[in-house]
Amino acid sequence: MDNSSSSMSLAILLMTLFMFGFSSSKAQMVPALFVFGDSLVDVGNNNYLPISTAKANFPHNGVDFPNKKATGRFSNGKNAADLLAQKVGLPSSPPYLSLASKNASAYMTGVSFASGGAGIFNGTDQKLGQSIPLTRQVGYYEKIYQSLVQTLGPAGVQNRISKSLFMVVIGSNDIFDYPRNKSNIPQQYVDSMVFTLKGLLKRLHSSGARKFVFPAIGAIGCIPSERLKSQTEECNEESNSLALKYNEGLKSMLQELKSELKDIAYSYFDTYAVLQNIVQNPANNGFSEIKAACCGLGKLKAKIPCLPLSTYCPNRRDHVWWDLYHPTEATATILVDTIFDGPLQYTFPMNGRQLVAI
Ligand SMILES: *[C@@H]1O[C@H](CO)[C@@H](O)[C@H](O)[C@H]1NC(C)=O
Ligand SMILES: *[C@@H]1O[C@H](CO)[C@@H](O)[C@H](O)[C@H]1NC(C)=O
Ligand SMILES: *[C@@H]1O[C@H](CO)[C@@H](O)[C@H](O)[C@H]1NC(C)=O
Repeated sequence: MDNSSSSMSLAILLMTLFMFGFSSSKAQMVPALFVFGDSLVDVGNNNYLPISTAKANFPHNGVDFPNKKATGRFSNGKNAADLLAQKVGLPSSPPYLSLASKNASAYMTGVSFASGGAGIFNGTDQKLGQSIPLTRQVGYYEKIYQSLVQTLGPAGVQNRISKSLFMVVIGSNDIFDYPRNKSNIPQQYVDSMVFTLKGLLKRLHSSGARKFVFPAIGAIGCIPSERLKSQTEECNEESNSLALKYNEGLKSMLQELKSELKDIAYSYFDTYAVLQNIVQNPANNGFSEIKAACCGLGKLKAKIPCLPLSTYCPNRRDHVWWDLYHPTEATATILVDTIFDGPLQYTFPMNGRQLVAI
C-alpha cells in the first residue's frame, strides 16, 4: 500500500467513526430526563405504595402498551413522559421506587418520581390513601443527585445534569382538592400553589437542574369525571377557571425565577389551549369522542373507573380520554408533539427542541 491509499483508508475510517459517533449522539439528544408529577406521568411508582388506591397496574390499562402490559401507567399505552423520552432518544425514565436498591448506574439516563394523586400540597392524596407529594419527590431527587456526585464527582455531575431535562407535570390534584380547602379564595389558593412550587424549583436548581419542561394544567373541567357532575355533561367551569388562574401564575413565576436565577431555561407549555383546541375541533385531530372515557362503565363511562370488569372502546385512537381522569395515548401524542415542535403561541418562550439545543 502506498502512502496515499493508506491515508485514504484512514480518512474513510475516521469518517465512519465520525458518522457513527454523530448519528448515535444525534439519537440521544440529552444525557437524562427526570420526571416529577402526578398520574399524568406516573410510570409505576404507585405500584410500590401499599395503601394507595391510585393504581393502574391491572387491565385494561396498557392495552396498547408493548405486550399489552399494565405497568401502572394510567393510559391505554404510553404517557407524556414516555413520549418526551422518545423525542430526545432516551428510554423511558424508570420509576424511582423500582430502583431503591440499585446504584448510580441505574440513574444515568434519568428517573421518574411521578406519582398518581400527587400535588404541590401534601394533602391531595387523602382520599386515595397515599401518594408521593411533590415535596417528597424533590427530596428523592436530592438523594439521587448526591449519589451521582459520589460516582461522577461534582464537575462530572454538573456537566450531565445541567444539560438534562426536568419535566414537571403537577397541579391538577391540588385544583381537584380545592373544594376541601374553600377557606381560601381562588386567587389565594392558586398563588399559594405557585409560591410553594417556586420553593421546590429552587431546591431542584440547588441540585443542578437547569432545563425545565413545564406543561401547564389542562382544561381539567372537561375530563369525564368533571362532566359527570353536570346534568348536561358540560365542562366544570369552576375547575377550568382555577386551572387558568393557576396557569397565569405559573407562567409569570417561571419568568421571575429565570430573572432571579439567571442560569435556567424553560419551556412553558399551554396544555389548556391545546386541549381546548382538540375538544373544539375533534375531527381535525382524528377524534370522534371528546366527552366519554374509553374505559369505564355507566354515564360517560365515568361512573365506574377503568377496572378489569369495565368495558373499553375498540378504537382508542378516536377517544380523547382513556378513563375518567386521563387522556389516551393519542391525546398525549398530540400534546408532546406540540411541546417539542410547537409554535410560540403554545410554547413559551421556546419549544422543547429549542430548549434541548441551548
Ligand atoms: C452498579 O450496578 C451494576 C449492575 O447493576 C454493576 O455492574 C456495577 O458494578 C455497580 N457499580 C458499583 C460502583 O457498585
Ligand atoms: C409537606 O410535608 C413535608 C414533610 O413531610 C414538609 O417539610 C413540607 O413543608 C410540607 N409541604 C407543604 C407545602 O405543606
Ligand atoms: C389548603 O391550602 C393551603 C394553602 O393556602 C395549603 O397549605 C394546605 O396544605 C391546603 N390544605 C389542604 C387540606 O389541601
